[in-house]
Amino acid sequence: MRTLETGQGRFISLEGIDGCGKSTLLQRLSQWMTAAGMAHVTTREPGGTRLGERIRELLLDPAYSGMSQESEVLLYSASRAQLVQEVIRPALGKGLWVLADRFCDATLAYQGFGRGLSLDRLLGLQEWATQGVLPHHTLLLDCSLETAASRRQLKASTPDRIEREAQAFHARVRQGYLELARRDPGRFLVLDAEKPLEEVLADLVSLFRDPLQPSLSKAWHGEFG
Ligand code: TMP
Repeated sequence: MRTLETGQGRFISLEGIDGCGKSTLLQRLSQWMTAAGMAHVTTREPGGTRLGERIRELLLDPAYSGMSQESEVLLYSASRAQLVQEVIRPALGKGLWVLADRFCDATLAYQGFGRGLSLDRLLGLQEWATQGVLPHHTLLLDCSLETAASRRQLKASTPDRIEREAQAFHARVRQGYLELARRDPGRFLVLDAEKPLEEVLADLVSLFRDPLQPSLSKAWHGEFG
């Protein structure tokens, strides 16, 4: 797969196991980017479009506990295909940044490492569904299953279909994400999400100011604008 060549915007995805704190951090990062004058859109997966949000309801509803692995992966991919076409490509084309709450790596981690589906087959499907679009950077928020479980308990909502999976499944997903990061160190940045979320946010913001992360920090220094 390749990253999309764009004018100014960069495509950043946030990944991690359920409860790692990624959605809260994405919201906070988005507020920080607004204050820093970085025009951006935020997305979530599954979802982020009218069609995608309907697909999300199906995917997360515990009533569909009998969903086949193949149906599951195709539904996630369908939501992503719509999101790329309707939101991500147009935003990058306009020079906006895209902050994505999950992208392809979630399918590799959950359906590949978690469910045991063939990674090669999933990669081919993702390339097709996304028209080859890949994030410029992927921020992996890594924390223990225990920390994730205690953060999930803070949410009042009942566990969804995926959150109800056994601990062993979530353990494979975590290890899968770390393996994906090892395989692609140029794109992945692994952040210690064991820390309090305010500290993780500070780590994230410092990446955007770090001259060693040129495609993140150039925007901060105004070189794209
Ligand atoms: P969220 O809770 O981060 O919004 O994600 C919804 C759930 O869907 C979460 O448990 C992770 C799972 N998921 C997959 O299994 N495969 C995917 O491709 C994506 C995007 C999410």
